[in-house]
Amino acid sequence: MTALESGSAGVHSPGVEDFRAPAEPFGRRRQEEIYLSGLRGRRPAVPVAAEALEERAKSVLSEEAYAYVAGSAGLESTTRANRAAFDRIRILPRTFRDVSRRDVAVELFGRRLASPFLLAPIGVLELANREADLAVSRAAAAEGVPMIFSSQASVPMEECAAAMRDAPRWFQLYWSTSDELVASLVGRAEACGCEAIVVTLDTTLFGWRPRDLDLAFLPFAFAQGIAQYTSDPVFRRLVEERQARGPEPRGEITPEAIRSLFRVARRYPGPLWPNIRGGAPLAAVRLFLEIYSRPSLTWDDLTFLRSVTKLPILLKGVLDPEDARIALDRGVSGIVVSNHGGRQLDGAIASIDALPAVVAAVGGRVPVLLDSGIRGGADVFKAVALGAQAVLIGRPYVYGLALAGEEGVREVIRNLRAEFDLTMGLAGCASLDEIGAERLAQPE
Ligand code: FNR
Repeated sequence: MTALESGSAGVHSPGVEDFRAPAEPFGRRRQEEIYLSGLRGRRPAVPVAAEALEERAKSVLSEEAYAYVAGSAGLESTTRANRAAFDRIRILPRTFRDVSRRDVAVELFGRRLASPFLLAPIGVLELANREADLAVSRAAAAEGVPMIFSSQASVPMEECAAAMRDAPRWFQLYWSTSDELVASLVGRAEACGCEAIVVTLDTTLFGWRPRDLDLAFLPFAFAQGIAQYTSDPVFRRLVEERQARGPEPRGEITPEAIRSLFRVARRYPGPLWPNIRGGAPLAAVRLFLEIYSRPSLTWDDLTFLRSVTKLPILLKGVLDPEDARIALDRGVSGIVVSNHGGRQLDGAIASIDALPAVVAAVGGRVPVLLDSGIRGGADVFKAVALGAQAVLIGRPYVYGLALAGEEGVREVIRNLRAEFDLTMGLAGCASLDEIGAERLAQPE
C-alpha cells in the first residue's frame, strides 16, 4: 500500500543522499506529496503547469524583470519554434513492460547524477529574488542537480560554491575581449570547485530584444548581473586603469540620472559615498559593456582557453553539425545544443530540431546536452530519445525563484523530475538506456 492509499503522511523531500539511491521512483513520491497536502487543504504555491507557473511569476515580477526573463529576440519566432517542435514530436509507448523500478540516473563527466538535469546558466537572477544565485545554488545542491554558474551572475561564484559544499557545479563563460580576464574567471571557477567550463557562443553580440528595448532596460547598465566582474581582481584593476585615464563623460544631469547613479553605486562592492565620489561603479559598468564579449572569436581562440584550464570545455549554442565536428577536432569535451531560449537569433532553428544532426555528427564521442523550450517531463524524454545525455532547465526555475525563492526552485526541479520519471514509465522504459529514437513516432 502506498502512502497515498493509506492516507499517511509518509512523504519527505528528497535530499542529495536520496539521489545516490532513490528509495522510490520520484514521480509517485511527488504525486503523493502534493495530493496528501490536498487532504490538508493545501495547494502548491508554485504552480505545476508550465503556463500557470509563468503567469503566476509574472504577477510578482516587476515589468522590467518579467520582460527580461520572458522576452526573446526579434519577433520571438524561435521561442515559439522551440515549443512547436517539441509539440510536433510524438512518443510511441510500449506496453507489458515491467516499469515498477525506474532508474533515471545518468553519468556525466565521471559524476553519477540522479537525473538528467542541470540548471542552465541564467544571468541577473536578482531580478527574480534578492538572494538570487545563492538561493538557486542551495536549491541545486539540495536536489542534487548541477548548477551552471552564469558569467552574468548576481552573486560571485565563490559564495555560491561555498553554499553548495561538494555538490556539482560548472561555470559558464562569456568570452571577454580581455584574455587576462578570461583566464582569471576560469581560474576562479577551477579554484572554487567547478567541474566544467561551458563557453556560450551564441552571444558574441547581444540579441535584439524588443521587450527590453521598449522599456529601455538593460540590467547590466544598472550594475545588475555583473558580480563575477566586480569581484574579479583583473576586472578591478582594469577599472582602476580606466579611472586613471580620466573621468567618465557625463550626460545630462536629471533626477532620473541621479537615481540611476545611486542604483549603480549601491550594487558596487564597498561603501556608497566613496563609491559615488570615486566614480568606480560607473567606470565598471562602462568597462563591462565594452569588454564582456568578443565578436571576433574564432576556433583558434580555443587553444588559449585550453592552455588556462584542465577542466572539460563544453560549447553552448552549437546548432550546425559542422560546428560540432570542428569542435570535436579541437578537443572539446561536450556540446550544448541551444538557441539561448530564442533570446539571441530570431529565426534560428528550434534546438530540438537541430539535435539529431548534431548527435549524428558527434557519434557518441562526447556528451551532447540540450536546452531551449524544456517545460515538461515529456520534453526531456523526447530530447533523450533523440540522443541528448541531459537537458538544461531554463526559465521555469527562474519563475520558481521569483515565487518562492530557494524552495520555489526546488519545487520546479522536483516537478520536472517527477514528470520525467512517470513519462518514462508510461512510455514503457525502465532506464535512460531504453529511451531511443524507436520510442518516437516517425513523421508520416
Ligand atoms: C539566459 N541564458 C543564458 N545563457 C548563458 O549562457 N549565460 C547567461 O548568462 C544566460 N542568461 C540568461 C538569462 C535569462 C533571463 C534567460 C531566460 C536565459 C540562456 C539559458 O542558459 C538557456 O539557454 C535558456 O534559458 C533556455 O531556454 P528556455 O528553456 O529558458 O526557454
